[in-house]
Amino acid sequence: MATLLIKNATLVTPKGKNSLKGYEMNKLHIENNAALFARDGIIEYVGPTSSCPTSNADEIIDAQGKVMLPGFVDSHTHLIFGGFRPDEFEWRMKGDSYMSIMERGGGIQSTVNATREASLKELVKKGEWFINRMVDMGITTVEAKSGYGLSLESELKMLEAINCLAENPERKLKVISTFLGAHAVPKEYKGRTGEYVDLIIKEMLPAVKGKAKFCDIFTEKNVFEIEDSRRLLTAAKEMGFDLKLHADEIVTLGGAELAGELGAVSADHLLHVSDEGIKKMAEAGTVATLLPLTAFSLKEPFAPARKFIEAGAAVALATDLNPGSCFSGSIPLTIALACIYMNMSVEETITALTLNGAAACGIADKTGSLEVGKDADVVLLHFDNYKVLPYYVGMNCVETVISEGKIVARNH
Ligand code: NIG
Ligand code: FE
Repeated sequence: MATLLIKNATLVTPKGKNSLKGYEMNKLHIENNAALFARDGIIEYVGPTSSCPTSNADEIIDAQGKVMLPGFVDSHTHLIFGGFRPDEFEWRMKGDSYMSIMERGGGIQSTVNATREASLKELVKKGEWFINRMVDMGITTVEAKSGYGLSLESELKMLEAINCLAENPERKLKVISTFLGAHAVPKEYKGRTGEYVDLIIKEMLPAVKGKAKFCDIFTEKNVFEIEDSRRLLTAAKEMGFDLKLHADEIVTLGGAELAGELGAVSADHLLHVSDEGIKKMAEAGTVATLLPLTAFSLKEPFAPARKFIEAGAAVALATDLNPGSCFSGSIPLTIALACIYMNMSVEETITALTLNGAAACGIADKTGSLEVGKDADVVLLHFDNYKVLPYYVGMNCVETVISEGKIVARNH
């Protein structure tokens, strides 16, 4: 039995087994001189150090002068892919748009070509490299999508790579897998979107069942429009997948409304969401996963975080790490952009990256807050004040990272 004791910390955590919505996102439990005791990765005590039932453990950390937070949850990434696309970044800086590059066969299709050529081993190795960077920034749960295969064989290869990361015996964090076969219409189906959706419904969804928790789609003008999206997501839901959508990223299309209608767990991006879409998502309890690094990288307006919060919706923040629209997995920069440009409070960003991120992954009952019965997924900061998170702009404040009771990173 492995035990862990952290004592004398400044505890900062949201509370609950579900997302926090609207202004509730500001409600953090803050306690000085706090301790946390965990056995076999599960929290058994959180509270005053002076009342902790034991002062012994296999691992004892004196966290005097340090903030203790739940581990961060990055609930939207594309961390498995072949190749890189630095040339597209340059084209965009010179004025090309993301969609025009995609329409002339670059963009997602270019990564699809490289991913189809890559071996499983190569994909896993590269994914592990990204995971090691993430853990250093305090991430203890990551969601990862397929979507650069776009054929049954290559989508299965991507999901196998994601599941290899999840099942690695030296695993440093939790990995949640998402099937994104509808990320783009592959070149062999150009002009035949409906037939590709048929292929996904008839062949891919049954084959990936059990290998992915979520089914996601890029609902966008000239990619998968509303009717194709509704058809695919309805079929996925009937087969038992939980739903996610890339919605209203480039234009206002009604993806948020569809997410609410279908009871999706989250709708993501939402840079161009309509007021009606915000309302529908708030009513349905669909988490709004906002990705400020993508807006920043694409030089697009940031998603209207305040409108979501004022409407009583739950907001999560994630990185969207991918080789195209957003080649960054920076949690520190995500926090800074959310506070500086989206006018979120520091408290809201903490909830968005912990409990609400966990809700967007469907595991808020297991992680996302520091409470008895949840996994001991913990971050200690170098500082005693959590308000340093956006203030130390773009810099990593994380000192120690603990995943399921085990120390997985130490940044001295
Ligand atoms: O979340 N917009 C669609 N999908 C990704 C980008 C994928 C890519 O460009 O490779 C996103 O931004
Ligand atoms: Fe994405």
